[in-house]
Amino acid sequence: MPSTAEHKENIPEHIAIIMDGNGRWAKKHGKARVFGHRSGVKSVRSVTEGAAEIGVKYLTLYAFSTENWNRPRAEVTALMQLLVSTIAKETKTLSKNNIKLQAIGDLKSLPASCFQELNKAIASTANNSGMTLNLALSYSSKWEIMEAVKELLTDVKKGKIQDDEIDEAVFKNYLCTKEIPDPELLIRTSGEHRISNFLLWQLAYSELYFTDKLWPDFRKDDLLQAIDDYNKRERRFGKTSEQIATKK
Ligand code: IPE
Ligand code: IPE
Ligand code: MG
Repeated sequence: MPSTAEHKENIPEHIAIIMDGNGRWAKKHGKARVFGHRSGVKSVRSVTEGAAEIGVKYLTLYAFSTENWNRPRAEVTALMQLLVSTIAKETKTLSKNNIKLQAIGDLKSLPASCFQELNKAIASTANNSGMTLNLALSYSSKWEIMEAVKELLTDVKKGKIQDDEIDEAVFKNYLCTKEIPDPELLIRTSGEHRISNFLLWQLAYSELYFTDKLWPDFRKDDLLQAIDDYNKRERRFGKTSEQIATKK
């Protein structure tokens, strides 16, 4: 396994990760679920650092879904507190590594303390020019697409855009990820093989990588392994293998 310093493969510009398995990891260690979430922060640190080192431009981490609001209240509260304390603690390190923080999702639905801490960190890292760390918080793809449709309709009504001008490129500009290219690679930990309402539009042609590792056990070496696997894939985008080989 190459170290991050000597990693010379084709590095995806955008990697998205569904960080799953914290609860099972805690259970395996005879601890409460929140312990798993806390341990997951170490993985976030390692993977963020590793991704930045090898030149990934955008790293999107699914941290809290719209559906996660339906978890027991105590777990939701603990997750929000963890989010506030982690963001506050990590801002300096992000800047030291030239990483810009951004977030996608229904951010106004977050507790005020969380929303404020997040905005503070986004503002203080805004001028960093290295990797963008994009947190999906209170995010779901169906929510995002519905919001996009509503905003697009408003613009049509206002005459800002004509209905016959609407195409994929126009629609993309209404999504939370309008500034970001679609992920080439999606990673999901914990052995679950599903998308769970994450980036449905953006993942249309992403390579999917599933690992049985639980999120708190995932480190930068596992990220490199996922990238190795990605490098063995042939991305055909509907064409034939022969066309790809001859670049036609
Ligand atoms: C992922 O781990 C973290 C969040 C969804 C916030 P889980 O908490 O879903 O862990 P499992 O799937 O129950 O093991
Ligand atoms: C997906 O994990 C959401 C995040 C990782 C934040 P879940 O654990 O909530 O997914 P499901 O509900 O099991 O599909
Ligand atoms: Mg889960």
